[in-house]
Amino acid sequence: MRAALEAKRRHADVALISKVHPVRSHSVAAQGGINAPLGQSDTWESHAYDTVKGSDYLGDQDAIEALSREAAQAVVDLENMGVAFYRGPDGRLAPRNFGGASTARTYFVGAITGHAILHVMYEQLLRAGVKIYEEWFVTSLVNEGGFTAGLVAQELLTGRFHPIQAKAIILCTGGCGRVYEPSTNALICTGDGMSLAWRAGAPLMDMEMVQYHPTTLPSNGALMTEGARGDGAYLRNALGDRFMSKYAPNKLELASRDVVSRAEQVEIDEGRGVDDGLGAKSCVYLDCTHLPREFILERLGEIYEIARQFANVDITTQPVPVRPGMHYMMGGIKTNVDGRTRVPGLYAAGECACVSVHGGNRLGANSLLDTVIFGRRAGAHAAEFARQVEFRPLSEGAVLDSERRAQEVLGRPANGDSIAKVRMELGQTMHQYAGVWRDGKGLNTALSRIYSLKERYQRAPVQDKGKVFNTNLVFHWELGYMLDNAEAILVSAIHRTESRGAHYRTDCPERDDQSWLKHIVLDYRPGAAPGIQYAPVTITRWKPEKRVY
Ligand code: FUM
Repeated sequence: MRAALEAKRRHADVALISKVHPVRSHSVAAQGGINAPLGQSDTWESHAYDTVKGSDYLGDQDAIEALSREAAQAVVDLENMGVAFYRGPDGRLAPRNFGGASTARTYFVGAITGHAILHVMYEQLLRAGVKIYEEWFVTSLVNEGGFTAGLVAQELLTGRFHPIQAKAIILCTGGCGRVYEPSTNALICTGDGMSLAWRAGAPLMDMEMVQYHPTTLPSNGALMTEGARGDGAYLRNALGDRFMSKYAPNKLELASRDVVSRAEQVEIDEGRGVDDGLGAKSCVYLDCTHLPREFILERLGEIYEIARQFANVDITTQPVPVRPGMHYMMGGIKTNVDGRTRVPGLYAAGECACVSVHGGNRLGANSLLDTVIFGRRAGAHAAEFARQVEFRPLSEGAVLDSERRAQEVLGRPANGDSIAKVRMELGQTMHQYAGVWRDGKGLNTALSRIYSLKERYQRAPVQDKGKVFNTNLVFHWELGYMLDNAEAILVSAIHRTESRGAHYRTDCPERDDQSWLKHIVLDYRPGAAPGIQYAPVTITRWKPEKRVY
């Protein structure tokens, strides 16, 4: 929405296509806040350094500099548009602490920051008169002569496929969290844009870097915001110990997410885990009970409700069992700082893109920031690009191709595995072999399973044969995208024979800057394994150092 708004402000003729109503996009679930070095003693350099260190030195520092330099203005802009950020007793914007940050710089709206921002952005979009195609599902991107020509989308209300001509397209489709089960991500986070771009000739980068958030509920994977720890909550093991003192003596619970998730997993694996309510000791406690009840309700009301509803725990009086859970894709469509991909006219921003500002591990509250900074930049540059080029012809064949694929799927006999079964096996395989711990053997096992799931997917029937809101057919399209994403994650993870950020290989546990201070870049090759290339990490001023929290 930020990209569309910027392009519209620059007088481009803009339409926004979304498979859900825009305020149901997954940013609505972002809880803890958005980072900006707005404090009097804070600086963009300090934010940038924390982000570089958080990324385990894989983030590109030119992009991180852009993120940090523009952050303060971006948050003020959001405030001016109407986002009611928390203010302290003196009436000034007041941040909370967050992981991996050397000072408090996370601006927030209780534990519903994404919700607040998304609704304000939507109002701005309506105000600016951006045309919105809601509940339209994109089935292919179309290039002509190597340039973006447009796309084909299915209107879910009628089931009809439509060609949409465009001089420039900006993909802002979020991550592929649901490639894992469980995940903090909404069911819609199926990596559509990453797969569409990849198939259209734009490479994917850093796909092995998958973030596990330290505090998710065991029952359904729901997020319990890092803002709780930022506001003073503790992590405890079964013995009642605040175990983070062993793993991050300075930052404790507020070390970077990869460090905290691994620490929790060690405690659990070594037998100091607490009951998950599902028959295993796969959790640790998130303990807020020493914080005043009113303080919790004011600042963390959303997770008070989530814990009550999904764990039957009142966090004001009891610790809640949590564990590391899949949360975010650091990798995505390779772009430059203006959102440009390799395909002229094709842009990407937000979680589906890899600029790369997050490298091996994203800092909490840098993702909402990423969406507004690089959304704005992509919108500006796509508008300028569109001014300079002519429309390319969009052939009828592209629509026919999507229609034929739909007919083939709808006509399948009802005896294959269901889409839901294949999707669940995919998620469980990824969680088992490509989660907090990885090794070459497990990753290769997972990859061969993904290839066999791809074959089963080709035969999987769709139960609903109708045209109106055929969500079974949508699940079919989505699963195809998810399998592409899973393959890209595993191929990259197998290839990176070191440990860095969220990618921890028990069979190569050290970071190896000599061999691996570089990005893995994957090309799509129809019917063959992805092509692997490398891109250098851009270092402007912060040389790689050992990471200690
Ligand atoms: O914990 C959280 O509130 C998540 C924030 C984020 O992923 O940026």
